[in-house]
Amino acid sequence: MKIAILGNGGREHAIASKISKSPKLQKLYCIPGNAGTDLIAENVELDFHNYESLLQFIKEKKIDLVIVGPEKPLVDGIVDFLSKENVKVFGPNKKVSQLEGSKIFTKKICEKYNIPTAQFGVFKTNTEASRYLENANMPIVVKADGLASGKGVYICEDLESSNKAVEEIFNGKFGLANQVLIEEFLQGDEMSYFVLSDGKIFKKFNTAQDHKRVGEGDRGKNTGGMGAYSPSGLINAELDKKIMTEIVNPTFEAIKDMGESYKGFLYVGLMIKNNNPYLIEYNVRMGDPECQTILPLLGTDLLDLILSCCDETLENQNILWEEKKSMCVVLCSNGYPDIFKKNIEIPNIEKIKNNDSFFIYHAGTKKKDNQVYANGGRVLNFVSISDNLKSSREKVIKEIENLNWDDGFYRRDIGYKIIDK
Ligand code: AMP
Ligand code: GLY
Repeated sequence: MKIAILGNGGREHAIASKISKSPKLQKLYCIPGNAGTDLIAENVELDFHNYESLLQFIKEKKIDLVIVGPEKPLVDGIVDFLSKENVKVFGPNKKVSQLEGSKIFTKKICEKYNIPTAQFGVFKTNTEASRYLENANMPIVVKADGLASGKGVYICEDLESSNKAVEEIFNGKFGLANQVLIEEFLQGDEMSYFVLSDGKIFKKFNTAQDHKRVGEGDRGKNTGGMGAYSPSGLINAELDKKIMTEIVNPTFEAIKDMGESYKGFLYVGLMIKNNNPYLIEYNVRMGDPECQTILPLLGTDLLDLILSCCDETLENQNILWEEKKSMCVVLCSNGYPDIFKKNIEIPNIEKIKNNDSFFIYHAGTKKKDNQVYANGGRVLNFVSISDNLKSSREKVIKEIENLNWDDGFYRRDIGYKIIDK
């Protein structure tokens, strides 16, 4: 089969790496890909937001399947567009991608289907929101409704900062805003829980814990994710059952009631308190860096799973996992998540070799004249799998130190809540 993957992050390199091992694969394209995917696929410099030129490329190269990595094209409706053109595509359609595209859409489903989540209010004006905030308990969470690359969430300690957050959102910091979401602050530990669905049935995929804050001890600004490990240390049979019955099942029921079906990965972002799950958010794709830490454990052919979702035959698939632990640490450019330099050479990267239990997945990298350059905030994902998270983390840190890249930094404490307790 000829396959195209859309996206250029660590998630897409991890997907490409798994797909490249499938016996069904004939040719793999990454649009646009990065310096890592360049080693296993053909990178194509094409703006996939331009649907017509994407379609032309798909037709010209006779591509059999398109796998969509990031959320933006899904929320924009790329699946609807390609399906209408009879292109096989993996990912949810525009309507159900609102689960990520509109936080208020998801909150309304939670309300209607009794899904445990933070208490919330939706406000149409600054004045309404301010009035509510005056009597609210602090901290409180203020959220922009739409996609905001992980930046539209404010955790506010006092009235002044919460009013400022509301003002920034209504002033259009994250695009035109008619409404703002204000939520109760949930205490607990976060978990990323993944589900795979073919539109008829769904199956649990796996779990991970992501560390979103830039600094060790989970301090400082939010980022796209500084590292993750899998499976999550929080998961147990009782919790798993609650997540399915209280959150995932009613969500799929809501989708059915809308007359829709969901095909693709569903990322269930949870807060766990006293072994009870609360939904923080949905994402309509794999997580990044969760994908990089989860996929190396997958014992089933990923391409078979994806095809079974497209063909509504997931029922016939067994999703198998290696009984190991996986650790991913992200090497970032100095300055991230604020200002960082671009086009910085990463010397000696080719000297670090992947093997059966250690992998490097590229994120913000580009190849030029046979040299690898950093061109993004999150640059490289170092992943190790073993029987023990601590030794996986030691292996990863040793490899990052071997690379000895002056322009980067990373967190040495990924997984600290279960490794170092
Ligand atoms: P989101 O963009 O919805 O993933 O939110 C970003 C991060 O903000 C989440 O991963 C949580 O760490 C945090 N967060 C979001 N909503 C809440 C909440 N209601 N209570 C506590 N933390 C939250
Ligand atoms: N790791 C968080 C995300 O993918 O949204």
